[in-house]
Amino acid sequence: MNADLISAALRGCDMARAGRIRSRAARTIRGMRRPFIGGNWKMNTDHASARSLAHAIAEGTGADWAADVVVFPPFPYLLSVAEAIAGSPVALGAQDLSGEVNGARTGEVSAEMLRDVGASWVIVGHSERRHKIGESEALIADKLSMALGSGLRAVLCVGETRAERDAGKAHDIIAAQLRSAFAAIDAAAMDDVVIAYEPVWAIGTGITAQPADAGEAHREIRSALAARYDARLASGVRVVYGGSLVPATAKSIFAVDGVDGGLVGGASLKAHDFLALCTAATVGVAAS
Ligand code: 13P
Repeated sequence: MNADLISAALRGCDMARAGRIRSRAARTIRGMRRPFIGGNWKMNTDHASARSLAHAIAEGTGADWAADVVVFPPFPYLLSVAEAIAGSPVALGAQDLSGEVNGARTGEVSAEMLRDVGASWVIVGHSERRHKIGESEALIADKLSMALGSGLRAVLCVGETRAERDAGKAHDIIAAQLRSAFAAIDAAAMDDVVIAYEPVWAIGTGITAQPADAGEAHREIRSALAARYDARLASGVRVVYGGSLVPATAKSIFAVDGVDGGLVGGASLKAHDFLALCTAATVGVAAS
C-alpha cells in the first residue's frame, strides 16, 4: 500500500489530484483483481435524493476509473438512478431478487425485471435479509443461482453474528454459508461473483472489524473457495469487506492483503464520503 496516496484520496476534495491518483492506480492494478466498491443504500433516500446522490457519484467518477463502482438503490428508484448514471462508469445493482422466474409471487421482483431496468448487479444473502427477514440458506442459494443464471452479477454476503464470533464459530459459520450458496454454482459462473465479508456485529454499529480479523476472514473465505473449486479460482474471486466502513477506517482495511474493496452502507449515502471510499479502495487495493 501507499499510505500517502490513500490519505490524499481520503481528503477527497482536490479532484485534479484525485484524477492523478486514479490514473496512477489504473496503471498499478494491471494484472491484479480489480477493486470493487458498492454502495448499498438499503431502505433510505427518496426519489429526489436518490437521483441527486446518483448524479453526484456519476459526476465524481471519471472514464478511467480503475474499480467497479456499483450503487444499489431501493427498487422504486432503480430506473431513475439508471438514467442518472448513464454514460458514467457507475453500474446499477439491486438489493435483492426473487428466486423464482415470474408469476404469482406478490411483492417479489424478478431477475428479468432487474435487467429490464438496467441493473447488472444484485446483492444476495445480506445479513439483514438473513437475520431480520429470515431468509434461509436454501432460499439464498436459489437466489444466487437465479441471479447468475439470468445474466446478473452477484454480491454474496456472508458473516457471523457477535454471539457466533464470541463462541469461536465465526469461520464455521462463514464456511457453511459459502458451502450452501455455492453448492449448485459452476466454476464458470464464479467470474460474476463478488463475496462481501460483512460481520453482522460491524454493520451499522460504528465498529469496524480490526484489519487482522478482516484479513483472517478473507483468507478463510479464499480457502473455502479453493476447497470447493480450486486455488486458481479462489485467488481470482474478489472478496470485499463491509461493516461501518467510513473514510477514516477505510485506509487500514483496504491495505489488508486479500481485501479487494468494500460494500458500504451508511457512508454510501453521502456522495463525498462514498467517492473518497471509492478512491481509497482503488488506491489501497492496488498498492497493497
Ligand atoms: P454500514 O456501512 O452502514 O455498516 O452497512 C454495511 C452494509 O451492510 C453494507 O451492505
